Amino acid sequence: MRIGFIDSGVGGLSIVEAVRAVVPADYFYLMDNRYLPYGTKSELFIRQRLKQLTEHLLTHQVDLIVIACNTATTQAVDWLRQQFDLPFVGVVPAIKPAALYCAGEKMALLATPATVKGHYIQKLVTDYAGESQVQLVGSSELVMLAEKKVWANADVKAEVATVIKNSGLTEFAPKAIILGCTHFPFLAEEIRSAFTEAPKLFDTADAIARRVQHLVAGLTSIYKEKSQDCFIATQELTEQQKRRVTQMRFGQQNCWPDLYQD
Ligand code: DGL
Repeated sequence: MRIGFIDSGVGGLSIVEAVRAVVPADYFYLMDNRYLPYGTKSELFIRQRLKQLTEHLLTHQVDLIVIACNTATTQAVDWLRQQFDLPFVGVVPAIKPAALYCAGEKMALLATPATVKGHYIQKLVTDYAGESQVQLVGSSELVMLAEKKVWANADVKAEVATVIKNSGLTEFAPKAIILGCTHFPFLAEEIRSAFTEAPKLFDTADAIARRVQHLVAGLTSIYKEKSQDCFIATQELTEQQKRRVTQMRFGQQNCWPDLYQD
């Protein structure tokens, strides 16, 4: 069994960890760092790029692809399903469980600018938020802070607190925050500590892991002995990043810069 993952950066690794814990497979992580962040790109761009990335993962004979990115999922997953004949698992913000928890009290969705602007999210809020007042915050700054933390082990607490404060979220004081970007679980601690009373945070990693587990059970691909997991970047990694990738248990690394969007 071969499972592919796609994200613009490190965000999807928060999903990989949860899936790895329950599904034995060979993992192919495709990080489109050449076009990070996705949250500032158009829907058309994201769709075409995701098509290219999917085609590339198919050259590695993956059986299933996890679009480990809320931005790409909300803009492109339905369209991708029409283009390719393999299962895609998308990641969408956990608005429904958060609304149940909040029971009419205030909640916030923290995602990328593209995600909060999209129709997909507007519909999820209308369908599931119930009586809760929902503040939508789109931030690419937080995406870049998560990158800084994961790659360089940087202390980003003060910067995260500033972004949260400037977004009006501390004043809004939600009971729960939905982490609608796969980068944000890496900043969970920093986000919580930006509030006097920490809100409950909701992410989707465990739900995605269960979904993948369910789909894999129905696939016919025979799982042989595990080989090394593979990390593919679309722009050359620094030496420090390469070391981190090895620590994250990807035995193979390669770079695939040849295919340009334009
Ligand atoms: N990790 C992504 C998401 O879940 C994308 C972040 C970005 O590139 O803007 O939305």
